[in-house]
Amino acid sequence: MNYSQGTHMPSKVVSLEEEEKEAFELPNKIPWIKTTTIPGEKSKKILAEQAEMETSTVVYPKSFPIAIKRAQDSVVEDVDGNYFIDWFTGICVLNLGHSDIVRKAVSKQLAKVWHTMEVPTETRVEFMKELRKSFPSNMRNYKTMFGISGADACETAMNIAHAVSGARASTVAFEGAYHGVHGGIISATAGRHYRIPVYSNGMSIVRAPYPYEMWYDYDTSDTLSFLEKVVNDPEAGYEKPDSLIVEPVQGEGGYIVPPEGFLKALREFCDKNDLIMIIDEVQTGMGRTGKMWGFEWDSIKPDIVAVSKSIGGGIPLSLVYYREDYDAKLPTPFHLGTYRANALALAAGTAVLRELPKHLDRVKAEGNGLQKRLRSIGSPLIADVRGRGFMIGVELAQNQKPLSKTRMLNLKHSMLSKGLIMHTCGHFGNVFRFMGALNIPSEYLETGARIFEQALKTTTS
Ligand SMILES: Cc1ncc(COP(=O)(O)O)c(C=O)c1O
Repeated sequence: MNYSQGTHMPSKVVSLEEEEKEAFELPNKIPWIKTTTIPGEKSKKILAEQAEMETSTVVYPKSFPIAIKRAQDSVVEDVDGNYFIDWFTGICVLNLGHSDIVRKAVSKQLAKVWHTMEVPTETRVEFMKELRKSFPSNMRNYKTMFGISGADACETAMNIAHAVSGARASTVAFEGAYHGVHGGIISATAGRHYRIPVYSNGMSIVRAPYPYEMWYDYDTSDTLSFLEKVVNDPEAGYEKPDSLIVEPVQGEGGYIVPPEGFLKALREFCDKNDLIMIIDEVQTGMGRTGKMWGFEWDSIKPDIVAVSKSIGGGIPLSLVYYREDYDAKLPTPFHLGTYRANALALAAGTAVLRELPKHLDRVKAEGNGLQKRLRSIGSPLIADVRGRGFMIGVELAQNQKPLSKTRMLNLKHSMLSKGLIMHTCGHFGNVFRFMGALNIPSEYLETGARIFEQALKTTTS
């Protein structure tokens, strides 16, 4: 058959919009818990089936022992017909919630094409235009390198820094930092041309103190004098860094907001000492803190930004956004991966990037309001309430010690049984965190706060 002669008849293109989405009818009251226990019977069965087949190392079913049937906006329904308020958003992935905006964008793209490797599509170019618009005007000529996960983006960001500096040098990272779990397999790949640009193979990290007032008596000046020693004292025993990676608000470390001006001070330090500044926006980005990017709170200009989570609206996508002048210093190939920049994720990402800016003012205002409300609970267990925008941490302690992991888990289960999905983080696992969708209805903020308050009142040691 000669395909060039057009003998092939295309099959009917199915528009998914024609297909019916099962109606998601919310009960009058949310949350709505109808089973006497959580998990209910159907959830129990699915949890058991999953546990029988899947590795016992999975983490989240232990925190949230339910099986999810479906979700809409900020409401999650389990298979037993219970409806929960989502203060979790898959850890800052669903910044618009379980949104029809994403559903529609993905369905539309699915009808066209979903995997093209790096061969251009209009979708890909449209996404990058939208991404550039989301950054401050002095960063709109930066280049994009795609990845799949947050860890992939952070590791690639460090590789870019090392390639640009030309050194197999160290990177400064902070106490309490979380940049992902990835890497290492490159060592097993044979081609030298793949391995040469990947400096993270055997990467060297210098760990710096991060100002965490609750437990450690550091401030910005302590961090800076440590860094001064690392960089400028050849007898101090540190490998000289060429880069620094930092989260604008520490995420997994405990929703720790650094002192005002911290990022600015680091930027100045990097400039003075010729260090490349990498900002990890995997969790803080995409409007989470009330500004599109967390570094904007300190009005700095990073050299490299790592982005993931909400950028694909829940479809796996990550990217590194880096200075245009670095591009000429990178060999080809540099970073690879079959599934990078999947067209469905790009289409979702464009839709999310267009929608998020509409919510930023509200996130700042309601975020402050929720912090105030959580402080007003006045429980003796609450040692600190802190945050920025919709990234709020409540640190729990008793007798000046972090609340135990068992009590934290019991509290989490107690809230789940009342209809609130709320997760934890922190150096000691003792920080409850609010990370609801940026468009979560205000009433779900108050209802969630009430459930949290009740759980704290009834917890016993
Ligand atoms: C700040 C930060 N960086 C990187 C990562 C890693 O992202 P991923 O889990 O997609 O690899 C995370 C994940 O929580 C994160 O919070």
